[in-house]
Amino acid sequence: MLKLILPYFKKNWLKILAGILCMVLVDGAQLIIPQIIKSAVDTLTTTQIDRYVLIRQCLIIAALGLAMAILRYAWRILLMGSARDVEKGIRNDLYRHVLELDMVYFDRVKTGDIMAHATSDIAHVRMAFGFGVIVLVDTLLLGGTTIGIMIWTDPKLTALAMIPMPFLILFTKYLGKKMHVLHKTAQESFSMLTEQIRESFFGIRVIKVFNFERTIERKANLASTDYFKKNLKRAFVSALLRPMLALFFNLSSLIILFYGGFLVMEQRLTPGELVAFLQYMGVLAWPIIAIGWMTNLFQRGMASLKRINELLDAKPLVQSPQSPDRPATIKGRIRFSRAQFSHDPQQPLLSDITMDIQAGTRVGITGPPGSGKTSLVQLIPRLYNLTAGNLFIDDHEISRLDPDHIREHIAFMPQESFLFSGTLEENILLGRKVEKQRLEQIIQACDLTTTINAMPDGLSTLVGERGVTLSGGQKQRVAMARTLIIDKPIIILDDPISQLDTQTAQTIIDRLKRMNPKATFIIISHRLSALAACDWIYILDKGLITGQGQHQDLIKSNKFYADSFRVQQFEESHDN
Ligand SMILES: Nc1ncnc2c1ncn2[C@@H]1O[C@H](COP(=O)(O)OP(=O)(O)O)[C@@H](O)[C@H]1O
Ligand SMILES: [Mg+2]
Repeated sequence: MLKLILPYFKKNWLKILAGILCMVLVDGAQLIIPQIIKSAVDTLTTTQIDRYVLIRQCLIIAALGLAMAILRYAWRILLMGSARDVEKGIRNDLYRHVLELDMVYFDRVKTGDIMAHATSDIAHVRMAFGFGVIVLVDTLLLGGTTIGIMIWTDPKLTALAMIPMPFLILFTKYLGKKMHVLHKTAQESFSMLTEQIRESFFGIRVIKVFNFERTIERKANLASTDYFKKNLKRAFVSALLRPMLALFFNLSSLIILFYGGFLVMEQRLTPGELVAFLQYMGVLAWPIIAIGWMTNLFQRGMASLKRINELLDAKPLVQSPQSPDRPATIKGRIRFSRAQFSHDPQQPLLSDITMDIQAGTRVGITGPPGSGKTSLVQLIPRLYNLTAGNLFIDDHEISRLDPDHIREHIAFMPQESFLFSGTLEENILLGRKVEKQRLEQIIQACDLTTTINAMPDGLSTLVGERGVTLSGGQKQRVAMARTLIIDKPIIILDDPISQLDTQTAQTIIDRLKRMNPKATFIIISHRLSALAACDWIYILDKGLITGQGQHQDLIKSNKFYADSFRVQQFEESHDN
């Protein structure tokens, strides 16, 4: 389990060592100061007072105080810095790993859970790690030596002074646990609140048009009140800490003063020793509090580390085989043979799919919503694994191919056009290098020229979450340009023209074919006129191929196709 943080220990060992050294020096100074005070007080109580001795002692204390301040700063920077490095490293590892996981994982796991791993769990590990080193050194060294000196001064006085301490440790531990639980519920409440607010802004258009503001406001208000209450509860508990600490320490001081004063009167202890003893008690405060806190932090950190490890152990189901086929070129033949697939084992989705799509042909897929069209084409770039049957790309079985390699050869336009925050150009290129001429060609082919010319900064206009919002049809065309910018032997367009008018759709599809004459095209659409030019059309219904053929034949032979076509023709003639 510690293998996750061990590399960072190794990487930062010099810093950690230096930090510990600084801490040891601070601890040493902290132990010396009471000794100086002791001799100062004892000098004062003797008859001949030497003011130079006093000044010298004060100067030493000032110097030590200054050195301690500097060293304390140094160890905080060094140790906390190393802990931050662990945090950063784990976060990067985690992010990289999560990006490698497959669609099945993202369908199943809530984004909020992954975010929690990336934020609070990692922070817990950092605190356990950072605090762990500090507290271990401090309690062992500072606490041990202080108690040693106290016992050496007077064992009985030490024993008496220690009476409240076990209670204090138990109390801080209890309080820490309670705080942790309250902190967690408050945190959860905060996630709910942010999610609520995020969602309401995300869906602001729906809210406005349905006059949903009051309802949504009430919900947000409720969440906000909940967060407030939980925070208040936490404040009640955390406010207890300091007064209780003071109470326990004052109790110890009281005992020391009472019994110690008695010892001074009997001259078994000098006044200086008594003052020093009280000072040592103050030094002991931190290690004692830290033990209670530390055990909690450590338990919590370990639990978080375990969760992070579990996430890191999650293996994608879609994986490259040991020695994958790596065909240098892909012609683009796609063959399904009795393929089956479902998202949920209880509910079969695609059954008995057999298709043979020849390289360089144009194939259409149509069918009612929810019939499995999207699921079917997502199998080709292997976003999911088949549950039974086979899928061949050229003559390679899909499971024999490295998913990354095959995706290199497929241009896939998903049903939803998602834009990243960034410029229009960045959204089209997605980090790929392309010649200027090619970019212009694609922009023209996707009918984006006028759109881009109308933008304030042309291709450099910011789009996505902030900035100019594009219309649905414009977004769709940007997504299409992104898909087609690189020449690929297989081009899959999932409902590419749902937001375009028939005429534009027709022209774009014809242009695409002319630009990529050798590529295999798969186009999903319910707009049958757009599929008319396809070499072959499949009709999907409830996960089954219920019809196939060419446009003209299907109009004659397939009832679903013929009916849909007639309705659409009627609509289209009335559109113009
Ligand atoms: N990621 C998913 N997890 C679970 N079920 C899904 C998922 N994606 C789609 N489905 C279900 O599979 C069925 C087919 O969906 P889909 O392939 O998107 O159909 P189409 O593209 O033909 O509209 C639908 O009933 C849908 O609810
Ligand atoms: Mg779909």
